[in-house]
Amino acid sequence: MKLFSLLFFSAFAGSTQAMPALDDDAMTERLAACAACHGARGEGTPGAEYYPHLAGKPAGYLFVQMQGFRDGRRHYPQMVYLMRNWDDAWLWRIADFYSSQPMTTLDHAPPAALPPEQRARAMQLVHEGDAVRGLPACTRCHGAHLEGREPGIPALAGLPVDYLIAQLGGWLTGARHSLEPDCMSQVVQHLQPGDIRLVSTYLAGLVPDLDSRPMPASDEPLPLACGGTTFPAAAAEMSP
Ligand code: HEC
Ligand code: HEC
Repeated sequence: MKLFSLLFFSAFAGSTQAMPALDDDAMTERLAACAACHGARGEGTPGAEYYPHLAGKPAGYLFVQMQGFRDGRRHYPQMVYLMRNWDDAWLWRIADFYSSQPMTTLDHAPPAALPPEQRARAMQLVHEGDAVRGLPACTRCHGAHLEGREPGIPALAGLPVDYLIAQLGGWLTGARHSLEPDCMSQVVQHLQPGDIRLVSTYLAGLVPDLDSRPMPASDEPLPLACGGTTFPAAAAEMSP
C-alpha cells in the first residue's frame, strides 16, 4: 500500500476499523453496479462515448471526485445517486481499489484525426501552453506524458472525447467545481472558443501507456495553486 494511502487510512482509523479487509475480487463484486459504465476493474467500457475509465488514476483524485458527486461539486445524476449515502472511509477504499488497477488499452474508438493546423494548435496548448494568454501547459500539472500526478491530478490520455469536452465545458459554465483553489476553472478561462474541442480531440486520440503510473507527489510548485494537490496537507483537508 502506498504511503499516501496509509496517511489517508490513519485519518480514518476510527471508521475503518470495523470494516473487514476486502481483496480485489471481493471489491469487484461489491462494485458490480459500477461495472456497466466503468468496467469491472475501472478499465472503461468498450464503445462508451462518455464514461471515463478509473483504473490507475491517483487515489486522492478519485476520492475527491466521489466526494464531489456526493457533496454537490459535480452533478451527473446517476453518480450523485450512487454516492449519496456513502461515507468517506468507504469512498477511500473504492478509490484505492481502482487506483491500484493497471491501465488498459483504449476502450473506445479514437476520434477522427484533426487536420494538421488544428492538431498543431492542440499540441501547442497541451505541451507548451500559451504565454500570451497566460495559459500554463497542461503537461506542467498533468505530467510530461499526461500520466497524472499524485495525489490529486488525473491522467488525461485516451479519455472519451465527449467526456473531455463536457468536463472542460463544465468548468467554464460552473457546472463542475473542484476543491478551492479551483485551478481548472482558471485554466479554461484562458482558452479561446474552439480550443476545448481541439484539445479534447487531441487528448482522446492519445493511446494510454500501459506501464504509466501517476508521477509521485512532490513539493515542486504547480504553475497555479490547485485544491487537493498538496501533500500531505491533502489528507487533512479531505478527512471527515
Ligand atoms: C450509469 C453509468 C454509471 C454508473 C453505474 C457509475 N458511474 Fe461513475 N461515472 C459515470 C459518468 C458518466 C461519469 C462522469 C460524469 C460527469 O460528467 O461528471 C462518472 C464519473 C465517475 C468518477 C470520476 C471519474 C473522473 O475521472 O473524474 C468516479 C470516481 C466514478 N464515476 C466512480 C463510480 C463508482 C464507484 C460507481 C459504482 C458505485 C460508479 N461510478 C457507477 C457513469 C456511471
Ligand atoms: C495548474 C495545474 C493544472 C493545469 C495547468 C491543468 N490542469 Fe487539468 N487538472 C488539474 C487538477 C488539479 C485536476 C483535478 C480537478 C478536480 O479535482 O476536480 C485536473 C483535472 C482535469 C480534467 C478532468 C479529468 C477527469 O478525469 O475528469 C481534465 C479533462 C483536465 N484537467 C484537462 C486539462 C487540460 C486540457 C489542460 C491544459 C489546457 C489542463 N488540464 C491544465 C490541474 C491542472
